[in-house]
Amino acid sequence: MTTSTHAPVDQSVFLRACRGEPVPHPPVWFMRQAGRSLPEYRKIRAGIPMLEACRRPDLVCEITLQPVRRLGVDAAIFFSDIVVPLAAVGVDLDIVPGTGPVVGQPVRSAADVDRLRPLTPADVEYVSEAVRLLVAELGGIPLIGFAGAPFTLASYLVEGGPSRTYARTKALMYGQPDVWHALCARLAQITREFLEVQIAAGASAVQLFDSWAGALSEADYRSYVLPHSAAVLAGLDRVPRIHFGVGTGHMLGAIAEAGADVVGVDWRTPLDVAAAQIGPGRAVQGNLDPTVLFAPWEFVEAQVRRVLAEGAAAAGHVFNLGHGVLPDTDPDILGRVVDLVHGGSRP
Ligand code: CP3
Repeated sequence: MTTSTHAPVDQSVFLRACRGEPVPHPPVWFMRQAGRSLPEYRKIRAGIPMLEACRRPDLVCEITLQPVRRLGVDAAIFFSDIVVPLAAVGVDLDIVPGTGPVVGQPVRSAADVDRLRPLTPADVEYVSEAVRLLVAELGGIPLIGFAGAPFTLASYLVEGGPSRTYARTKALMYGQPDVWHALCARLAQITREFLEVQIAAGASAVQLFDSWAGALSEADYRSYVLPHSAAVLAGLDRVPRIHFGVGTGHMLGAIAEAGADVVGVDWRTPLDVAAAQIGPGRAVQGNLDPTVLFAPWEFVEAQVRRVLAEGAAAAGHVFNLGHGVLPDTDPDILGRVVDLVHGGSRP
């Protein structure tokens, strides 16, 4: 990974595909490519809590680079978490292994929302530093910055942790719409500033994770969520913007309207069907089922080829999984998928 041997990052296969320009092969990266599927990750993280790791630029840099070195992916994803900016503005939370983010005092009233202060770049200086270190190391390989979208962040703040039904989140949304919109407006500011910080430090693209937006009907998504996600994406148009959610096959048109350049699609919706819903002028990202990686290689290969064929229907295609890499995934299989997408093979 040296700058001299790579084309300029702006001409990378990943950024070209995001912009819908012709590419020799689709680019490939994996959501959660850094993490527990890699033995080198488990080793370096041993004994260090997740949020502490996210605040140490040396560790963030090394962990972000691990899958790039091992797998040969076309982009790096910044190692952090969607709740890092919330912790940075003083929300009492922790990331509990095997559970996810847990919030000490859930947000359920106007007074709770008032306590959520705006994010400033000084709150996340360690993020700027880690991005700068990474961009220097990565040379021609683009770095994707990311943040959680207002709905997904609100779901953790309101529920107090992960949820299956989002009952409390929806109760606030339907019962106190003014409080809901005030909360989402604050979260949109935090998310947008967090992404601005990463872009200013050199990130080449950003992904907005609205992982749990699929829990909503299209009508509710449009009324309660879309304007806030659109506000996040609107000012960030100097880099490609990817917008991803799980289980959003019933409302991909609305997700696209929020304004991203690339729409991330889970495995439930074929990419050609997704491309028709999304409309012209936007690329798609996805969407191999992460569990397919546990099947025999012949099956994996057939599924990768199917995803590639369906992705070809869109203005651009960034190959990825339909959601994050599962912790038990064999990293060698990920490497073979990269080679297959690149048009070759790995024994
Ligand atoms: O490689 C990458 O993709 C970058 C790292 C990344 C992490 N979290 C690291 C992480 C990214 C992009 C995220 C985003 C994130 N975090 C999302 C959106 C993506 C998605 O999955 O839809 C969400 C919903 C979260 C919240 C969160 N943080 C969850 C659900 C968990 C898993 C809890 C568990 O242990 O099962 C986390 C913790 C987390 N984030 C880990 C990592 C590597 C595991 C912590 C550890 O290794 O100790």
